[in-house]
Amino acid sequence: MHGCHQEIARWLEPLGAHVRIDAAGNLRGVYPAARPNAPRLLIGSHLDTVSNAGAYDGILGVVLAIALLEELRGRRLPFAIEVVGFSEEEGVRFGTPFIGSRALVGGLAEELLGVQDARGISVRKAIETYGLDPTKISEAELHSDALGYLEFHIEQGPVLEKLNLPLAAVDGIAGQSRLEFVFLGRTNHAGTTPMHLRCDAIAGAAEWISVVERLAREVSGLVATVGKIEAKPGAANVIAGEARLTLDVRHISDEIRVRTVEDLIRQAQELAARRGLTVQESHLLNQPAVAMDSFFIGQIEQAIVQTGCKPHRMASGAGHDAMILAEKVPSAMIFLRTPGGISHDPAESVLQDDVEKAIACGLHLLNQLASSPDFYKRTNRA
Ligand code: GLV
Ligand code: MN
Ligand code: MN
Repeated sequence: MHGCHQEIARWLEPLGAHVRIDAAGNLRGVYPAARPNAPRLLIGSHLDTVSNAGAYDGILGVVLAIALLEELRGRRLPFAIEVVGFSEEEGVRFGTPFIGSRALVGGLAEELLGVQDARGISVRKAIETYGLDPTKISEAELHSDALGYLEFHIEQGPVLEKLNLPLAAVDGIAGQSRLEFVFLGRTNHAGTTPMHLRCDAIAGAAEWISVVERLAREVSGLVATVGKIEAKPGAANVIAGEARLTLDVRHISDEIRVRTVEDLIRQAQELAARRGLTVQESHLLNQPAVAMDSFFIGQIEQAIVQTGCKPHRMASGAGHDAMILAEKVPSAMIFLRTPGGISHDPAESVLQDDVEKAIACGLHLLNQLASSPDFYKRTNRA
């Protein structure tokens, strides 16, 4: 990440942006406005990735923000542009996503700084090891000069490809729940313990995973995933005494998502009791669905039309920093078509022509906002 920050700073600084890394590890590069003390528009996305990821989820949104500054060719707007490269959006290391963006809305609480990774290293310690000062996190917060947040991102799904459209305005982002479940049984010998006398944590977890999949298939728009499972002691000839798994549940309706999580917890407990196991769950995330800002959506659609494309509105099933920023400032997203709908995989890609259209659309949008009195009048919650 140090190398990534240095590289991005090397691109931003020649464009006239002042770059710093805030205490939550977010890269912040401010391209000044025509006048001092003007308000700012934030444009960005995240710099971290899932393991063995593709090259576009997150970073494309940061690179597009830089491309827009390049396209301005030194022209100053009535507002400053702050390019943001967020840290820790995916939640891979600490199980909790959006750590970087939470710092901007003032939500990086003591509790979150204490969350530990698999090696017992806390968020606070990781920040210190990176060379930053976690006591300065409040300095990362947005103030009333923030006009809004714009994020370009690949769609990460098949919808735009099916519609043969390069771009879309996002109107809402599905809520997410993330939990960890630990099934505990009794470790024993695989050769000598008859089937009816076992308390097999893996077998219990496996039965519950099938319940998760079945339940999600029955509810329209619901997605539920067990993406990680670890068993102990972990040998071919030993019945597992412990199975630890993650659960990720998403739906555009918070009510359906929360009800599903409750149902899955209840079913895990019933199934565990029947098998002589115990199960404990811990909640890592309960992020409500959010609507994107309606003024921005209208402006984005107009910019898409100006680019010569057909506008389209869609919800995002993936989580994004925009859903955190929306707590404090008007926020919006522009999706780019994702070939094959493939993401979180090295095969993730974008079409060069779509990227060119995204830059053109972004430039139209900046010009529209620069001449829109409504843009400056809007109040934010920062
Ligand atoms: C972020 O990629 C997510 O999990 O939605
Ligand atoms: Mn991702
Ligand atoms: Mn992403």
